[in-house]
Amino acid sequence: MRNSVLTFQKMKSEGKKISMLTCYDYSTAKLMDGNIDAILVGDSLGNTMLGLGDTIPVTVDNMITYGASVVRGTETTMIVVDMPFMSYQVSMEQALENAGRVMKETHCQAIKLEGGARVCPQIKAMVDAGIPVMAHLGLTPQSINAFGGCRVQGKTEDAAKELLEDAYAVQEAGAFSVVLECIPAPVAALITSKLDIPTIGIGGGTECDGQILVYQDMLGTFTDYVPKFVKQFANIGEEMVKAFKAYDEEVKNKTFPDDEHSFQMKNEEALKRLY
Ligand code: KIV
Repeated sequence: MRNSVLTFQKMKSEGKKISMLTCYDYSTAKLMDGNIDAILVGDSLGNTMLGLGDTIPVTVDNMITYGASVVRGTETTMIVVDMPFMSYQVSMEQALENAGRVMKETHCQAIKLEGGARVCPQIKAMVDAGIPVMAHLGLTPQSINAFGGCRVQGKTEDAAKELLEDAYAVQEAGAFSVVLECIPAPVAALITSKLDIPTIGIGGGTECDGQILVYQDMLGTFTDYVPKFVKQFANIGEEMVKAFKAYDEEVKNKTFPDDEHSFQMKNEEALKRLY
């Protein structure tokens, strides 16, 4: 059986940490399935898969293509799919229609959207329609132009108070969980202690109820930049480069393909007539 919103609630009440990673494709999803609690098909695919530089140009169709492939690669891990920039802000109808498309066309278990009190009407409408919603506060990448870049949020008492109020607001609107991105660890700890729903940190310190990282960051396969909060759990990027170089060399010196990786035929002699 798949993990669900109930798993999140149970883990928070039992004090068990929730592990999440982003994922965007079938093969990687199969490797993650059963080994972590939940996957986010993040709109960070704009950076890591499409090379767009940020998440602003990502479309609902992009999210559906990648989201559906991740769902197909998993059996037990819960899948959350991001709602991209401007897919839930224009009107309530548009927000519900797009969230409905993401749920129906990917078969995921929940969606995520960015923002606090200002997106609570959308969160409530989606939850009323039976769509589980994960909220996202702090450094919300869809607002980088408003923030003037990727900056740590909630650093002053006033900013921390606003974050706490937003966290209460999304919980009240029905969100089952909230991502806290790039905020001081003591602020994330305060919010976590006040909320009934689990907090998932990314650059939010150890006290969050769970953690999430972009999988290419933790494997060292995305090299454009490495945020301070990223820990590299393996350097697969380096291994990939080694393998690409070894392949190039073997193709050039004709050691690949060898007999083991080639097909033979019984009557090879007959081919001579065709030369
Ligand atoms: O898009 C994404 O990958 C995210 C995570 C960083 C939380 O929103």
